[in-house]
Amino acid sequence: MPDSWVNREGGAGTDLHLELSGRGSRRAQLMEALREAVRSGRLAPGTRLPPYRGLALDLGIARNTVADAYAELVAEGWLTARVGSGTRVAERAVPREPEQPHRISPPRRRLGHDLLPSSPDAAAFPRTAWLASARRALAAAPNDAFGVGDPRGRPELREALVEYLARARGVRADSDRVIVCSGFAEGLRLLGAILPGPVAVESYGLGFHREILHECGLRTIPLPVDAHGAQLAGLPGTGATAALLTPAHQFPTGGPLHPERRAAVVDWARARGALLLEDDYDGEFRYDREPVGAVQGLDPDRVVYFGSTSKSLSPALRLGWLVVPARLVDAVLAAKGPRELSTGVIDQLTLADFLTSGRYDSHLRRMRAVYRRRRDLLTRILAERFPHIRVGGIAAGMHAVLELPDGTEESTLRAAHRLGLALDGFRSYRHPDSTMPPRDGLVIGYGTPPEHAYAAALDALCRALPT
Ligand SMILES: Cc1ncc(COP(=O)(O)O)c(C=O)c1O
Repeated sequence: MPDSWVNREGGAGTDLHLELSGRGSRRAQLMEALREAVRSGRLAPGTRLPPYRGLALDLGIARNTVADAYAELVAEGWLTARVGSGTRVAERAVPREPEQPHRISPPRRRLGHDLLPSSPDAAAFPRTAWLASARRALAAAPNDAFGVGDPRGRPELREALVEYLARARGVRADSDRVIVCSGFAEGLRLLGAILPGPVAVESYGLGFHREILHECGLRTIPLPVDAHGAQLAGLPGTGATAALLTPAHQFPTGGPLHPERRAAVVDWARARGALLLEDDYDGEFRYDREPVGAVQGLDPDRVVYFGSTSKSLSPALRLGWLVVPARLVDAVLAAKGPRELSTGVIDQLTLADFLTSGRYDSHLRRMRAVYRRRRDLLTRILAERFPHIRVGGIAAGMHAVLELPDGTEESTLRAAHRLGLALDGFRSYRHPDSTMPPRDGLVIGYGTPPEHAYAAALDALCRALPT
């Protein structure tokens, strides 16, 4: 029988009903019951919680257990504690209106040429190598792999990721802190479910990622970005409980986060008890220098690391992973639910084999060379034919930013459409509350066209650009 408790005195006459699940330690049960009460809105921001002793007596647990649970929830940002005012529920963001009326739109119609910055070259998906890994993984899988899935993900994959991420991205993890998810988007939704308040984001980024946070009831606060990534000077004054950044390669402007800012964001997270959400979406693709390692290596207790196969293999796989601080593992898993509902076991085991067999590294090496050639062709053609257009963000990834003369973005997009060329304008990535003056430009994804069509896609681009 779960324990339950009704308090009619805690704070200003609050009725509080807590149900302990009976699973796990008393401390963990109490923490989850309190989180659930905050999440569901039963405990409003500012509500004062009962003193340790009273709650301990009512629940029949030790006073220290209550004190520990409160302290841990303060550290996670759910509660605040001030001398003289007791322990209270932290201020949570007020849900805000979505950026645009929410509608389910069909995928964009594919035009003749595609220079959108969304996908890698689908024709280069390593079918043969993937099939070889799938065969091996299926043959070796234990029978229990075909039962109900563990929401953490398969141990084979989590262990392979620990080794790969440490080696290739400088991530510090053990497999207990790795949680497999259905791409970055699901990972962000899971974090959005447990964060207690607003999230600072880059002024330029993907609108639908901001939308995921808004749907979780979290306000997003734009930080200006420049050639060194997000500017952090204003961050301490925002009241943010987390900052979502793309440190290896700012999306879409393209700069890596400056080393001083990498240290500064970690210092901020430590001082504020906040989190850095590190979106490492294309960290493997860096052309002119050594890859920039993950910020997570600086402080695994303050950084949630997000990885994905959407750029390295295919966004259709829907495979990603989180590396979370140990104290957040239970909360993220609770948000995910008791069963794996989003990621299939065969793909997980296949990716595990793909990683441990070295096929992932070989694929990345091959694709790095392909995308580097494409980037070089793009920059060469533009330098020759449009010397007045500045090209940025080209050191990494598979997209570049073209700065257009003021007032020409709209007409360029219209011209591209007439030529059958799918293109994205720079303005569509701007946070609506950003204080940065809007700039005209294009975000050119050079990864998507198949090899044979790339030159023609560039030709169409040149015909659309203002002279
Ligand atoms: C900025 C950014 N973050 C993350 C991702 C990966 O998202 P997902 O894993 O949900 O496909 C992408 C696209 O691949 C991206 O452009």
